[in-house]
Parts: sequence; C-alpha cells; structure tokens
Amino acid sequence: MTESDKLFAGSIPRLYDTLMVPLIFEAYAADTAELVAGFSPGAVLETAAGSGVVTRALAPRLGKGTRYVVTDLNQPMLDYAATRQGSTSSIDIEWQQADALKLPFEDASFDVVLCQFGAMFFPDRTAGYAEARRVLRPGGRFVFTVWDRIEDNAFADGVTSAVAEIFPQDPPRFLARTPHGYHDVALIRSDLSRAGFTSIEIEAREKTSRSPSARDVATAYCQGTPLRNEIEARDANALQAATDRAAQVIASRHGEGPVAGKIQAHVIVAAG
Ligand SMILES: C[S@@+](CC[C@H](N)C(=O)[O-])C[C@H]1O[C@@H](n2cnc3c(N)ncnc32)[C@H](O)[C@@H]1O
Repeated sequence: MTESDKLFAGSIPRLYDTLMVPLIFEAYAADTAELVAGFSPGAVLETAAGSGVVTRALAPRLGKGTRYVVTDLNQPMLDYAATRQGSTSSIDIEWQQADALKLPFEDASFDVVLCQFGAMFFPDRTAGYAEARRVLRPGGRFVFTVWDRIEDNAFADGVTSAVAEIFPQDPPRFLARTPHGYHDVALIRSDLSRAGFTSIEIEAREKTSRSPSARDVATAYCQGTPLRNEIEARDANALQAATDRAAQVIASRHGEGPVAGKIQAHVIVAAG
C-alpha cells in the first residue's frame, strides 16, 4: 500500500459518497447495520466510517441512550459524513478523527467495534485488530467487511484493465493492491487469531452492483477513490482519458445503458 492509497480528501469525499457509495457500499451497509443492531449494543465504535453510509443506516436502529462514536483517519470524510447525517435518529453521534491502529479510547469501552471496508487500508492488520479488541468489553464483537478478490468484483476489474492501457509501462494498481488486496480467508483468520480473537465467523457474500451507465461507473472508480491520486501522479492531465477508456471497457463488457456487475465481499464477526 502507498501513502496515497489512504488519502481520501479534496474532491474524493463528495464523489465517493455520491457515486461509489450507491454503487457498491450501500447494500453492504444495510446488512452491517442489521447485524450490529441485532446485538442490541449499549456502546458502538465505528472505525474507517468514510462518508457515513453505515452510520446513516445504523443510527436510527440503535436504542435510545446508545453511545455511538464514529471515526475515520481522514477528517474530510468525517466532515462530509456529518453533513449528510441529518436527524433521523434519537441518539447523538460523537464524530472523532481517529486512526484505527491508535484508538483514543479506554480499554473495554464498547460492545461492538464495526469497520466496513476499512481493514484493507490498515498498514498492520493484526495491530488494528488488537486495537479493536482492546476497546471491546468482554463478550463484545468486532464486525467488519473486506472485499473479495478483484476477479469477483466485475467493475473494479474492468476499470483496472482500462487504466492499465493508458499507462502500460506502470499500470495504476490501487484497486487490486488495496481494496481487493486482502481477501485470503486463511490470512484473515490468522491475523485475527494473532490479535487475540478466539471466535471467528467469515461469510462470503455476493451482491449485484447496478449503475445507470458505464460512464457513471468509470467516473466513480477513477475520480471518487484514491485511484484518482495514482492516475494524477503519473500524468496530471490524464484523468479524463483514463475515465473515458474505463467507460468504454465497462460498456463493452456490460453493455450500453444501465449496467450490472457482480460484487463480492467477506463479512466477518470476531469475538473472544
Ligand atoms: C473504502 S472507504 C470505506 C468507508 C466506509 N466505511 C464505507 O463503507 O463507505 C475506506 C476508509 O478507510 C479510511 N481509513 C484508511 N486508513 C485508515 C486508518 N488507519 N484508520 C481509520 N480509517 C482509515 C479512509 O479514510 C476511508 O474513509
């Protein structure tokens, strides 16, 4: 992982939230919120909350009096999340910038730590998991999701092939390297075990990603994720050409007009 892989700032928070979230994150957020609410927690910590898609789904489902602390490494993502939150729940959310590997919270403070599609960005997953475990109360649960391999995520795969054509000598590999670079179930289990978790459930969950057009898919991935940083680092003027080529490749694979593609992730609940 490079430093720019975890930089969600500038125009990324808005494009991420308006284009990426409906495309691939919203459906999993609904599942994550249902899972966490089902545990009836008294205190919840969300890490790597991004633009708040899970927060919006979960807050209205938590009981009155529940403590809900929502954190992310990048303050611009949290700022965006806070403006999107509205007042659909009876609980007050505590927004706080925090690195998931150095949580500014006391030991045994939360019943659930949740992290949707954030662990792939941790420079040391075992350290991040140990930190989640440290702030969990006895009997608490760490709920998180990671993407499966890029070949099981059709649009990410298509976009990665397309941008490689623009930079054949040095293809931007952000999507394969980071969001889709941590899918080995045996490795996830071993990282969690080394962090001290003793009960580990992992389920692969497939969904379908839909978009009004191949162009929207291309713009979402090329401009609303850190892939943008990687493209612009190679050529400050290449973003449009890369987006155009990605739109062509997605249209050639998934058709003109509305498009649909397979997405797949691992849903993990760790305890103990
Ligand atoms: C793909 S986004 C997921 C955001 C959100 N959970 C969602 O489902 O839409 C990954 C997020 O991880 C955050 N992130 C990266 N490294 C982090 C770290 N060490 N600690 C906390 N958050 C981190 C990024 O700022 C970004 O918001």
